Amino acid sequence: MSASGECLIIGGGIAGVSCAETLSILQPSLRTVLISASSLVKVATGVRQLTKTLDEFDVEERPFDWVESRNANLSVVWGEVASLNPEEHVVVLRDGRRFTYKLLCICSGGKPKLIANDHPSVIGIRDTESVKEFISKLGDARRVMIVGNGGIATEMASELKDVELIWVVKDDSVSATFVDAGAAQFFLSSRRTRKENNSDHSNTNDDKPKVSKRLKYTEVHPCRSMTTHGSALGPDWAADILMKGKSNGKYDLNIQYSCEVQALMTHEEYLSSGDKSADEDGTKEVRWPVYAKLTNGKTFGCDFVVSATGVTPNLDFARSVLPVDGIAVDGGMKVDERMETCLRDVFAAGDVCTTMWEPAPHWMQMRLWSQARQMGSYAAKCMVAKWNNEEITLDFGFEMFSHATRFFGFKVILLGLFNGQRLGKEYEILLRMNKGEEYIKAIVKDGRLQGAILIGETDLEETFENLILNRIDISRFGEDLLNPDVDIEDYFD
Ligand SMILES: Cc1cc2nc3c(=O)[nH]c(=O)nc-3n(C[C@H](O)[C@H](O)[C@H](O)COP(=O)(O)OP(=O)(O)OC[C@H]3O[C@@H](n4cnc5c(N)ncnc54)[C@H](O)[C@@H]3O)c2cc1C
Ligand SMILES: *[C@@H]1O[C@H](CO)[C@@H](O)[C@H](O)[C@H]1NC(C)=O
Repeated sequence: MSASGECLIIGGGIAGVSCAETLSILQPSLRTVLISASSLVKVATGVRQLTKTLDEFDVEERPFDWVESRNANLSVVWGEVASLNPEEHVVVLRDGRRFTYKLLCICSGGKPKLIANDHPSVIGIRDTESVKEFISKLGDARRVMIVGNGGIATEMASELKDVELIWVVKDDSVSATFVDAGAAQFFLSSRRTRKENNSDHSNTNDDKPKVSKRLKYTEVHPCRSMTTHGSALGPDWAADILMKGKSNGKYDLNIQYSCEVQALMTHEEYLSSGDKSADEDGTKEVRWPVYAKLTNGKTFGCDFVVSATGVTPNLDFARSVLPVDGIAVDGGMKVDERMETCLRDVFAAGDVCTTMWEPAPHWMQMRLWSQARQMGSYAAKCMVAKWNNEEITLDFGFEMFSHATRFFGFKVILLGLFNGQRLGKEYEILLRMNKGEEYIKAIVKDGRLQGAILIGETDLEETFENLILNRIDISRFGEDLLNPDVDIEDYFD
């Protein structure tokens, strides 16, 4: 069988769907086919604009016909792309179906990087399926190890209950991908306070309304097993799930800083290794399913290991046709400022791509939900521009990095160079913290705000975004920038 679309999109994650929806808004007459290996697609709903560059939204899984019914000339096809022929403009599915295209957008996302492949005691968290596997294993677990220092690991550390958690991070503080050591401390101490305040072990301490971008779970229909990659979960994937281990009422967080997992051993291998360090915690008589030896010399036995060390872009189907310099060092497909790859008429967006243009001073790529949506929609604009032979300029959203999420029950907003990225060592940090309530960090260089971390209900995002985008000289404020009694906004209206 053979079919064609004028535009073809590979991937039903948020990047692919936002590309399809934008195409159908901008150029409804284009016949578009979206091919998804997962049987449901991810849709951003209830978009709320917080500031010029910052959106919040819910993420829901929807059946194909829901998306089709809203976009007249769009059809969604269930299948896995096996190969791409860029000369002939043809995509071939694993089951042999062929699709031709005039313009193609690759939005195939990524798969979790695992510290060990096909290891029965190692799981990666990526999609609804892997969360189910995780939850079912957790129910029988007393001790779990998490490896990684990004959002997934942070969410787990904040949501897990009734289990002993060993958190292995390669940096010298937790959550380093998103926040700094100070904020990490703020989170960890709030987790402790919350624990002390909650004898019933529920973690619903926040009486403030939850600002949440929630992923609603839907059952995936049963023939899903044809595919190995589903689409990635979204923000707040952890919020609705009860993550509970077997140790009633006992939660223990043990953080191992500045190290990585060096080797995984079975009980027998551990015994014959001569290493005794896993016995030091008094579990000598326990036969743990897996023993993890860390680069700091310690070994821990545990029920299973969660590998949350990032994703590798999914581009196997294109690997043989991509020249070596079409792939970036992080494994992503290189795209220019028109979201075009090095292949003719092929665009890419979301986790699968790596942006190669010279970024605006306060923007950087991070493989996040917000950027997948933004890139998918911008790629569609670029495709339409190419179709109509028109010029296009980079979307405003790429002027400044911004991201909203929740960690440990707190609203977290990241703006600009929030961790001093690219600034070297020469910048000032202004800090305001109220334990258990808010943590505000401003990064200042050359009298200008360069980035910020806003945790809690700070209400500062709009003002700070303005200061960064307009490069306003703030030297006259000095430390008053964070003084709650000084209303900075008044100065700029
Ligand atoms: C557990 C977890 C928690 C996260 N938490 C956050 C968070 O709090 N905030 C945040 O901003 N981001 C978070 N992320 C990251 C975010 O989910 C991703 O950045 C985002 O989903 C990327 O979207 P995408 O559309 O590019 O790719 P994906 O969502 O990965 O979608 C890829 C799509 O391509 C399809 N596909 C892949 N290969 C093929 C093929 N060969 N043929 C056909 N179809 C194919 C897949 O089935 C899927 O539909 C999290 C990720 C994970 C895994
Ligand atoms: C779908 O495309 C056809 C032409 O390809 C066009 O005539 C029709 O108006 C389009 N439908 C909508 C709802 O735009």
